[in-house]
Order: sequence, then structure tokens, then C-alpha cells
Amino acid sequence: MSSQEQTELVVRTIADTAIENEKYFGDLDSVVGDGDFGYSLARGFEKLLESWDGLDRTDPGTFLKRSGMMIASRIGGTSGPLWGTAFLRAGAAAGSATDLDGPRVVAMLRAAIDGIKARGQAEIGDKTLLDALVPLTDRLEQEFAAGASSGDAVRAAAATARAAADATSDMVAKRGRASYTGERSRGSVDAGATAVAVIVERISEAWQK
Ligand SMILES: Nc1ncnc2c1ncn2[C@@H]1O[C@H](COP(=O)(O)OP(=O)(O)OP(=O)(O)O)[C@@H](O)[C@H]1O
Ligand SMILES: [Mg+2]
Repeated sequence: MSSQEQTELVVRTIADTAIENEKYFGDLDSVVGDGDFGYSLARGFEKLLESWDGLDRTDPGTFLKRSGMMIASRIGGTSGPLWGTAFLRAGAAAGSATDLDGPRVVAMLRAAIDGIKARGQAEIGDKTLLDALVPLTDRLEQEFAAGASSGDAVRAAAATARAAADATSDMVAKRGRASYTGERSRGSVDAGATAVAVIVERISEAWQK
């Protein structure tokens, strides 16, 4: 599979996962947030799939940037700009490369993380999707450095993302609507972090095929 095909597989899996889990992600957000997260994500990725065939496929970076613009154009509230920025930054970090190796993928994820931090004024420990995304990126980097295959690296990253998402249950939300509830936000997992875990598990499954 070419890097373009791999990128499309990953983006498509993210979109399918977001759409199929609309209710689950919304329910997670309704525990201490306003419950719109599942809806927002599903509508944004639906829009992306509607325009799928016409997206610019010059290279993976361009494809990701166009995807980010589509997502951000539909999703309102907080998640549109956050997820749109993540895709845009990852695409920019890919540049015009046609072959994406492990270190490049890690650099793309770091760029996405920096974009989310800047957009959301969020840091690790604030009980957001960053609390799954950063550990999984660290794990991917370690696995690639140790010479793991992409399949093994993604599987390991999925396990790390799941453990990290579960661990958000002990945190107090510092960002987003959930932060309005203060201490009451402790005891339930963050919706965004859990969505990241579910997505990476799905990517890992797709990758092993
Ligand atoms: N400022 C932020 N920075 C990073 N991530 C955030 C931020 N605010 C929320 N999140 C993440 O987004 C998820 C909720 O997304 P959602 O779209 O429901 O946002 P929200 O906080 O309800 O705001 P709104 O309802 O105004 O869109 C949270 O579970 C968290 O992971
Ligand atoms: Mg919400």
C-alpha cells in the first residue's frame, strides 16, 4: 500500500468510527458536558465523506489539509476547529512527501498536538483528547525507535491510548463545557480522549488486514 492509500485508510477509519459512535460519544459527553460531542464529530466526518471522491489527492499532506478544511467547515462549537486544526497541521507537517515513514508520522502527530494545544489553550492533564493523543504518540515514537513494524507499533499505541483514556477518569476537567462542573467531572472518562482510543483501536484493526 502506498502512503496515500494508507493515509486514506486512516482518515476513512476515523470518519467511519466517528459516524458509527455518534450516540456513544454523545452519551460520554453528556455525563459532565453538554452531550453534543458525538453529534458534532459525526456531522463533520459525514461532510468529509460526502466530498470524499473530489478531495485533492496530490499527496498525503494535501489530502489531510483538504480533509481538515471539510471537517472544520461543518462541525460547530469546540470540536470543529480542534479536529480541523489537527488535520491541517498534520498535513502541513507531511509537506509534499509521498512516502511517510515512522518518524514523519510521529512529527505529523506532534504538529497536530501543538495545533490542538494552541487552539484549545489546553495542556496535558486538562482532561481532554490530548490526554490520549500525547501518550499514544509517545508510544508510537518509542516503538518505531525500537524497530517495531508499523502493525506492531499501531497495536501498541492503541493499547496505550485505551489505558490513557481510562485514566482521564481520575482527572478534573480544565477545558470545555465539562470544566464548568469542576470536581464533579472526576469519576468519569473524558469523551474526547475515549473517542481517540476507540479510533486508534479501529485503525489498528484495519492496519493488521
Ligand atoms: N479547549 C479544549 N482544548 C482541547 N480539547 C478540548 C477543549 N474543550 C473540549 N475539548 C475536548 O472536546 C471534547 C468535547 O467536545 P465538544 O465538541 O462537546 O466541546 P464542548 O466542550 O462541549 O464545547 P461546545 O459545546 O461549546 O462545543 C472533550 O471531551 C475534550 O476532549
Ligand atoms: Mg460538548
